[in-house]
Amino acid sequence: MLPANLLFSENLESTLEQLLKGYAPQQRFICCDSTTATTCLPLISGFDCLRDARQVTIPAGDDHKSVESLSLLWRFFSQEGATRRSVLINVGGGMVSDLGGFAAATFKRGMDVINLPTTILGAVDAAVGGKTGINFNGLKNEVGAFHQPKAVVFYAPFFASLDQANCLSGFAEMLKHGLLSDAAYLNSLFKLDLSQPSAPAFLEAVRRSVEIKHAITSQDPHEKGLRKALNLGHTMGHALESLSHHIQKPVLHGYAVAWGLVCELFLAHRLLGFPSEELSRISAFVKITYGSLPFTCADYPYLLEAMTHDKKNDNKGLNFTLLAGIGDLRLDQTLYLDQTSDKALLEASLDYLRDIMGI
Ligand SMILES: NC(=O)c1ccc[n+]([C@@H]2O[C@H](COP(=O)([O-])OP(=O)(O)OC[C@H]3O[C@@H](n4cnc5c(N)ncnc54)[C@H](O)[C@@H]3O)[C@@H](O)[C@H]2O)c1
Ligand SMILES: [Zn+2]
Repeated sequence: MLPANLLFSENLESTLEQLLKGYAPQQRFICCDSTTATTCLPLISGFDCLRDARQVTIPAGDDHKSVESLSLLWRFFSQEGATRRSVLINVGGGMVSDLGGFAAATFKRGMDVINLPTTILGAVDAAVGGKTGINFNGLKNEVGAFHQPKAVVFYAPFFASLDQANCLSGFAEMLKHGLLSDAAYLNSLFKLDLSQPSAPAFLEAVRRSVEIKHAITSQDPHEKGLRKALNLGHTMGHALESLSHHIQKPVLHGYAVAWGLVCELFLAHRLLGFPSEELSRISAFVKITYGSLPFTCADYPYLLEAMTHDKKNDNKGLNFTLLAGIGDLRLDQTLYLDQTSDKALLEASLDYLRDIMGI
């Protein structure tokens, strides 16, 4: 069950009108990026309840989740006379909801936010759970705040313009949710048409993923325990994402997460007896859906080093969330790079991934 402020809407105008009751005219702000300003804003710009809204556009791309964009938003709010009783409506993917959410969290010590996620990744991950922030000093999400949105509204027509790569990127987080929850949901994901993110079946899966993410984050809003479950696939995934940039074959986050899931399910198989037939089935699906990253065992030292730099790990060990089976979570599994057997196991998981990828 979803709480009342996570809304799947078929009539966005009336949903927004209800939500915006109580925010005075001219105290409504809209933040888009340069893509969603053309693909998604036209779907809402005629709404009566947004007639007096002031709109700001940030250039698209994660490079713009920056202190410069943050300053631009603060200046915009300040010039337009925003107050703590204003509301910011983020129309975009995770870049917009993270940046806009952080700007709103900090302006006048916090104004309200409504997220209208326009990417699958934004819908099932970034827009829900209250994490906001910007990249800083070359580091991802280095500065941020927890700031829960007043509401998140999911509206399928936004997803219709999304390209296939971004759709697949968000879908990897849905696979993660399936693995964290139950076999029935996971199996339903294998049957979806991944070229139709705005179709009813896809939206139903988005809803299930939002439920799973919400169930986890609402129990642990400040990431002290259970929320670490959402890190499944990400210790390996972040390292592979970083390698993809290092070798100048950059991939979207979700591709690296999908490959990271394969590696971490392999670790789970070896350490906790995660069933081998599930491992094979998921690996085959990931290979067909996400293809491969060209890397060799010469890249292993880079990958292991990158894992130690991940802020969820420390010098003493690499922290994993592993599964003994689908939905059977074991938080805080630690592997130590200075222990020969642990290092060999991590390398074996990378061998397995390369084997699956056929490289
Ligand atoms: N706060 C959190 O809990 C959390 C969780 C996961 C990810 N994130 C953050 O989210 C960001 C990634 O999110 P993302 O993948 O949505 O990236 P994004 O917002 O950069 O969107 C990806 C691309 O799709 C374009 N786009 C957005 N909506 C579109 C649409 N409907 N049609 C066509 N194009 C569209 C964007 O302009 C952009 O070029 C990262 O900054 C990441 O750190 C945050
Ligand atoms: Zn992720």
